Amino acid sequence: MTEKRENWGSKLGLILAMAGNAVGLGNFWRYPYQAAKNGGGAFMIPYFAALILLGIPLMLVEWNQGRYGGKYGHGTLGPMVYLQAREGTSPKIARILGGLAGALALGVTVLLNSYYNHIIGWTLGYAYETASGGYMDKAINTGEYFVKYIQNPFKVVLFWIIALAILAFAVMRGIQKGIEAWAKFMMPTIYVFGIILIIRTLTLGSPIKPEWTPIAGLDFIWSPRWQDLNWTSALAAAGQIFFTLSLGMGIIQNYASYLKPEDDIVLSGLATVSLNELAEVILGGTIAIPITYTFLGPEGLKSGVGLSFIALPNIFREMAGGRIFGTFWFLLLFFAGFTSAIAMYNYLVALFEEEVGMPRKTGSVLVFLIYILFGLPVALEPILTKTAELAYLTELDNWVGSYLLVVLGLLEVIVTGWLLGIKGLEEMNKGSFWKVSKAFYNIFIQFLTPITIIILLVFSTKDYIKAGYFKWIPSFVEKTPELVPWVLLARFVMLFILIVGFTQAYKNIGRKYGKEIQEGK
Ligand code: PHE
Ligand code: NA
Repeated sequence: MTEKRENWGSKLGLILAMAGNAVGLGNFWRYPYQAAKNGGGAFMIPYFAALILLGIPLMLVEWNQGRYGGKYGHGTLGPMVYLQAREGTSPKIARILGGLAGALALGVTVLLNSYYNHIIGWTLGYAYETASGGYMDKAINTGEYFVKYIQNPFKVVLFWIIALAILAFAVMRGIQKGIEAWAKFMMPTIYVFGIILIIRTLTLGSPIKPEWTPIAGLDFIWSPRWQDLNWTSALAAAGQIFFTLSLGMGIIQNYASYLKPEDDIVLSGLATVSLNELAEVILGGTIAIPITYTFLGPEGLKSGVGLSFIALPNIFREMAGGRIFGTFWFLLLFFAGFTSAIAMYNYLVALFEEEVGMPRKTGSVLVFLIYILFGLPVALEPILTKTAELAYLTELDNWVGSYLLVVLGLLEVIVTGWLLGIKGLEEMNKGSFWKVSKAFYNIFIQFLTPITIIILLVFSTKDYIKAGYFKWIPSFVEKTPELVPWVLLARFVMLFILIVGFTQAYKNIGRKYGKEIQEGK
């Protein structure tokens, strides 16, 4: 309660910033191909189950941890987790839990964002390519075009650095003048562009087969297909809920740490979930999937990661006004990515500010350099190996972009639900417009949510073993020896960051709360 911390300027600004944090490439780029790959309507059943069992309860837990930590001057996960955990266990164990949480959050904010920034750079680059008509010639194969793009050092680096530089500039200006101001401009624009694109999508007619209508594309995701339900798609759906709501990353807590102690969190947390889901299942689901279906049919939806950068460009040049709509699409992706990346960026700046005592400006420049350093392999791999496999990015994404989010989510819900315990309910309801009921807290946060995460973790682990991700040389690069060094590099980098993260958080907790830890309280 010592340091003077910045606060959000207005309720609207806070909600838009939080929505900006959650609404990202996950909604427009990741969600459509996950839903398509995992059986459309069969994916949506576990998706909504995960939203209720994991998404909403964890969102409330994270807002609660953030506001609680902010009261003590903390915007990072290590001390936040320590402060709640010590209520239910010895300070020594609480300190270890804090160290673990700090390590995982550092892993995510440094590494997930290091490749995410690249994809943001691609979206900006593709907005430019589309506007300038780069791939409009129908003789061009858009798949080859994309590969050439990511192997072009000049373009890739240029747009990546532009994106990073704007991020640095925005974060430097602080919470209100930086993050909040950008969210107030970009978030409404996303919804407007989204609606324009939906109208265009729904008025398309298939040039190839009359039965490939946008509505048939919508039907693919919206008719529940119980018979196609399976574990793999259920895991993918739960993973998507974590990713899209920014859960298990530490960045919701970071934003919530700038709340005042009596600011509402229940309704605001639910508003964040609603705005994200609106942008995901309505906007994200009504653009990419039906457009692709209309032009390419059910087979087109299988294009996976390439949906946004390969399948859609193919379509933009076919459809009337495609150049303009295509540019809107990539700008929408850019804004969505930007307002999420800024949260990760700010997490690291807050860490330098609060735990190292570095001024915000210096911290912002340092974080810029950190992202260049850790993102460099993403740029170099396709250029040096002359492939488009992106093994370094894939390996990081498999761990810090999915598996570790769930691990951190489990730790968080145990700390609040079990260690802070029922006091967490009181804390959550402080200053709130709507109250979380005791029954909800008992049934969900203390029971169903942790149990669901444990089950998820067990099955994900099995899946990862089966997919060969745990092997020294993971299966996905076994047949391509030139990619092996990139995977090993990714592993080395992850290990390094996790160790640094643990040590840093553990030491910092000791520095601030050493006395009570010594005394065992
Ligand atoms: N929720 C974000 C999204 O949907 C996840 C994210 C945040 C990813 C910040 C990277 C950086 O895209
Ligand atoms: Na999202």
